[in-house]
Amino acid sequence: MIIKEDFCLTPFNTFGIEAIAYELSIINSIKNLQELFNAGLLKKKILILSKGSNILFTGNFEGLVLLNQIWGKEIVDEDDEFVYLKVNAGEFWPALVDFSVENGWGGLENMAEIPGKVGAAPIQNIGAYGSELKDVLISLKAFDMVEGRTVEFQNHECKFGYRTSIFKSKYKNRFFITSILIKLSKNPKLNLSYKPLADAFLNIDNESLTVKDVSKKVAEIRNSKLPHPDKLKNAGSFFKNPYVSEEQLNTLIGSYPDIPYYKINNDLFKIPAAWLIEKCNWKGKRIGNVGVHKNQALVIVKYDKATGHDILNLANSVKKSILTNFNIHLELEVNVV
Ligand code: FAD
Ligand code: EPU
Repeated sequence: MIIKEDFCLTPFNTFGIEAIAYELSIINSIKNLQELFNAGLLKKKILILSKGSNILFTGNFEGLVLLNQIWGKEIVDEDDEFVYLKVNAGEFWPALVDFSVENGWGGLENMAEIPGKVGAAPIQNIGAYGSELKDVLISLKAFDMVEGRTVEFQNHECKFGYRTSIFKSKYKNRFFITSILIKLSKNPKLNLSYKPLADAFLNIDNESLTVKDVSKKVAEIRNSKLPHPDKLKNAGSFFKNPYVSEEQLNTLIGSYPDIPYYKINNDLFKIPAAWLIEKCNWKGKRIGNVGVHKNQALVIVKYDKATGHDILNLANSVKKSILTNFNIHLELEVNVV
């Protein structure tokens, strides 16, 4: 059990915010967590850090950071139709997608290139291009930092929703997710329900497509609008897409007949926050060293040295515009620490 002091977190968050962890411990196994628990160290203020692609630091972290590096994956079962894969929390999500696609297994291909680690995937039920983690996850294992033992959660117990789970709400900061168990199909049925993805294959016989074709196309579409954090610091979508009622939607359509929306159920509709932000003229706008990305209005970018507060100030100005103009509260997707 090694505790490092005054550890620089700048390379460990995709915004590249300069922050120090007062203490940091690298977690390679559940045993490491048990040792920390036995020594009473998990009673401190804790932050679990994986790839840092959905985190905004607003200052130094005055507690103990647990850096997730639990590597490894294994096939635990398979039959003619499915393969059951246990993947440890420290594995890089895009590498897992590549591995599954190379084997011709279906289920992860629409979620190619989401730049986080496996252990963080359940936190906000990652999703892209019509698929979400909840569609493939059977169960997960997590270390309870209050009770000091490993617990298993079945899919339904995780309370997955759009960009949320029980680990982002009721059990925030209580469980360290150590592995997930996913079910992938050996006879994949492609999911081309997301319009831009279907459009990209418009003139191609869909019967001939493979999971690899889909993952490549998803990567292509993503790269055309989302900035790569190695080139331009960001944490993906800064806000969630808001849900509105049918009544609210009708009021909005009255003022903005071209407003895009997606039906969730009879009384809930999702509005793309990027459209709202663009409509308020924020797209491509830069304030100091931070700004709203020119190709994707949902992404806040950091051009040069800036603090977490600079980013939050911009986010708050964006939120204020959306509230004033559309009477919609935008919620943050990014975890502010
Ligand atoms: P971190 O940022 O390190 O942590 C995120 C949160 O999870 C924190 O609250 C942290 O404390 C907690 N956490 C991390 N690991 C664990 C663990 N093992 N146990 C318990 N809690 C943990 N997301 C999408 O859903 N869809 C997208 O299409 C998408 N595209 C993106 C594109 C870009 C360019 C970027 C930068 C981000 C994108 N994201 C997307 C957001 C992000 O990649 C995901 O949320 C990802 O799951 C975060 O993983 P991470 O390892 O970076 O987690
Ligand atoms: N749009 C604009 N202006 C823009 C960008 C988009 O008006 O600058 C409008 C368009 O109407 C477009 C619609 O928004 O049709 C949707 O855009 P896009 O397909 O790019 O998706 P998104 O809603 O902006 C969400 C996720 C992304 C995910 C993509 C693809 C959230 C908060 N974001 O973005 O996830 O990759 O869909 O499925 O749900 C992330 O969570 O970090 C993330 C990048």
